[in-house]
Amino acid sequence: MSVSATAPGKIILFGEHAVVYGRPAIAAQVNQVQVKATVEQSPTEFTIRALNLNRTELYSDLDLSDPLGVIIRLVLQTLGESAAPRATLTISSSIPIASGLGSGAAVSTAIARALALYFGEELDPATLSRMVYEVERIYHGTPSGIDNTVIAYERPVYFKRGVHESDPSTIRLLDVPVPFRIAIADTGVASPTKAAVGDVRRKWEAERAEYEAYFDRCGEIAFHAYHLIESGRPFELGPLMNDNHHVLQRMGVSSPELDRLVEAARQAGAAGAKLSGAGRGGNMIALVTEATEGIVNEALLNAGARRVIVTTVCE
Ligand code: PMV
Repeated sequence: MSVSATAPGKIILFGEHAVVYGRPAIAAQVNQVQVKATVEQSPTEFTIRALNLNRTELYSDLDLSDPLGVIIRLVLQTLGESAAPRATLTISSSIPIASGLGSGAAVSTAIARALALYFGEELDPATLSRMVYEVERIYHGTPSGIDNTVIAYERPVYFKRGVHESDPSTIRLLDVPVPFRIAIADTGVASPTKAAVGDVRRKWEAERAEYEAYFDRCGEIAFHAYHLIESGRPFELGPLMNDNHHVLQRMGVSSPELDRLVEAARQAGAAGAKLSGAGRGGNMIALVTEATEGIVNEALLNAGARRVIVTTVCE
């Protein structure tokens, strides 16, 4: 027996970093990149092959804090299975690591889906998202929960983290009556989320009033963007993307490579552009149309982008 499952990548459209501090943010799935997990029956004990990492290991040999081991253990627990199956789990991914496209959350999501399917079960998005969040905590320290949410639901989401135990996170699956196109360009600079999030925290601790004001502004932008998207006016999002990028620059999470690509996209006719995700490297996004997509792509590649993907944001 062999079963497979996939999980998409993601982009943050508005509100990264501020979302960790309880402000709203918007993210969307990116189906052009994905993780695939396959579980195939085998005579040997449970073995994990992570093709991109060139890793083959027995589940029983994994360190207790290894993210691959943690998600497997959570799935077995949730399904009430006492032992891992005699099978091989193979994972392959087209999502670059540490680039703001949600690679970690997508790996966990695809594994959880495939393993559950192997036991004849389908995990609902809320359960899946909760399990993936547990793993995200190992990668990130203080994840907001937006990555696991958008990847588990595979829908654009408006997300607000509950900052206290008694205050649950708000997840609103977005209505997108008018789909819109986003070009995603990779700086080629790997940037671990944990480091950027940690730096912002240190600065926030040192300059609370200033950073609280940045977060408030990001939250207002995300809220405004949410109304534009839901009311079918996505082509007006450009200035909000530019504003959001400006605030992220002030927060110290942009980089010369990101700024160069953002500028190139705007000059080539994108209606707006910003970094996406933790920043410092990774990917930036630009609002394009059928008419501007080609020229913006070319400008991004000329300005040093390693790869450009165009995705359509839709339900
Ligand atoms: O995983 P990334 O690089 O897309 O970053 C996630 C966005 C942050 O807001 C910076 C962190 C978080 O947990 O929301």
